[in-house]
Order: sequence, then C-alpha cells, then structure tokens
Amino acid sequence: MTLEAYQLHELMQELDKDELLAMLSAFKCSRNKDSEYFLKKIALKHEAKGISRTYLVIDREENKIKGYFTLALKCLSMNDDDLDRSVADSMNLRDGIAQAYLIGQLARSDDAVPGLGKQMLDRAVDTFSKGKEMFGCPTVRLDCKDELIHYYGSYGFQRIRKNHEKDLSQMVIFI
Ligand SMILES: CC(C)(COP(=O)(O)OP(=O)(O)OC[C@H]1O[C@@H](n2cnc3c(N)ncnc32)[C@H](O)[C@@H]1OP(=O)(O)O)[C@@H](O)C(=O)NCCC(=O)NCCS
Repeated sequence: MTLEAYQLHELMQELDKDELLAMLSAFKCSRNKDSEYFLKKIALKHEAKGISRTYLVIDREENKIKGYFTLALKCLSMNDDDLDRSVADSMNLRDGIAQAYLIGQLARSDDAVPGLGKQMLDRAVDTFSKGKEMFGCPTVRLDCKDELIHYYGSYGFQRIRKNHEKDLSQMVIFI
C-alpha cells in the first residue's frame, strides 16, 4: 500500500497557520537536530519560494508528524574522470553537469516505528519516477553522513564522492 504523505503547501492552505506551526514545532528527531531544525525553521520558506517540496506523514488521530521528506532538484557538477564509466553514462553527464533529483531531507520522529524511513524513501523514489516519466532525468541524489552510507547503500544508492566541504558523502541511485 502506498504511504499517505501530505504536501506541506496543501496543509498551508488547509490548516490554520498556528495549528500548522504547532504541529511542525512538536516534531522531535533526537538523532539529527538539523532535520528537526529544517522542518521547524526552513521548510515553510522553501515551500513558499518553490525551492523544495516537503511531504509529511501525519498520524491524524494524534495530529502529530511521524516523519517527513523533502524533495528538490539539484544538479551535480563533476568531471567524467572522477566517476566510474558506467555511473557517468547513467548520469548523462554533459559538459561536467548531470541533472539530478534531490532527497534533501528524510527523517522520522523519535516515536515513529522503525522502517518508516524506508517507506518514505520508497515514496520519494516513486514520486521522482513519475517525474522521470513526464520530463526525464534518471538520477536521484542525496548527501549523507558516513554513518548512513550503509543504510542508503543497502537501499541501492552508490557513493560517488565527498561533498565540497568534505563532511558528507554524495550518493546516487538510478530510476
Ligand atoms: C534515516 C531514517 C529516516 C531511517 O529510518 P528507518 O528506515 O525507519 O530506519 P531506522 O530509523 O531503523 O535507521 C536505520 C539505521 O540507521 C541508523 N541511523 C539513523 N539515523 C542515523 C544518524 N543520524 N546517525 C547515525 N546513525 C543513524 C539507525 O541507528 C539504524 O541503524 P541499525 O540498523 O544498525 O539499527 C531515520 O533513522 C532518521 O530519521 N534518522 C535521523 C534523521 C537523519 O539522520 N536523516 C538522514 C539525513 S541524510
């Protein structure tokens, strides 16, 4: 069954502003405070500007956000020589640029069931697959801490390099 996820901009229309802010502020993700910060302080601004789209998994009985993911577009800039030949081919690298879909955020709340993250990943990839059908682009990318390379690797992502700041690894999957 497909996971039900509400788009933030729809909730901005549907809910009273204070109610929505209260729901966002109640989100707790102790393992990654940046994920909590993004949802509380950045997601609404990026949604309004069309920079990204945030999808929320909500327990309607508790009126609580159990998890969220944020999708956007962000190209990768690199040289052919930096990459394995088959990866460079799959990414359609041209003049050092590969277009890519981005999973910018993925987090479940402290009280959500383990496995919700994987369900949200399925949903994110499924959403991008619809995009690929409509306007192309086979590459989905994300940047993660080293502790999560194994998690995304077992989903099928492959690590391509460190980011510019060298604090995160960039990973891709082809859809
Ligand atoms: C990443 C996440 C969405 C995956 O959710 P899930 O599919 O339901 O799986 P789990 O929560 O069971 O986590 C899977 C594994 O990753 C580890 N993990 C998750 N987040 C981690 C983090 N921030 N740092 C280190 N390890 C982490 C878990 O400990 C678990 O390890 P285990 O399998 O050895 O027990 C969820 O763990 C989460 O919300 N993490 C915090 C937010 C985060 O760091 N997001 C990633 C941004 S790139």
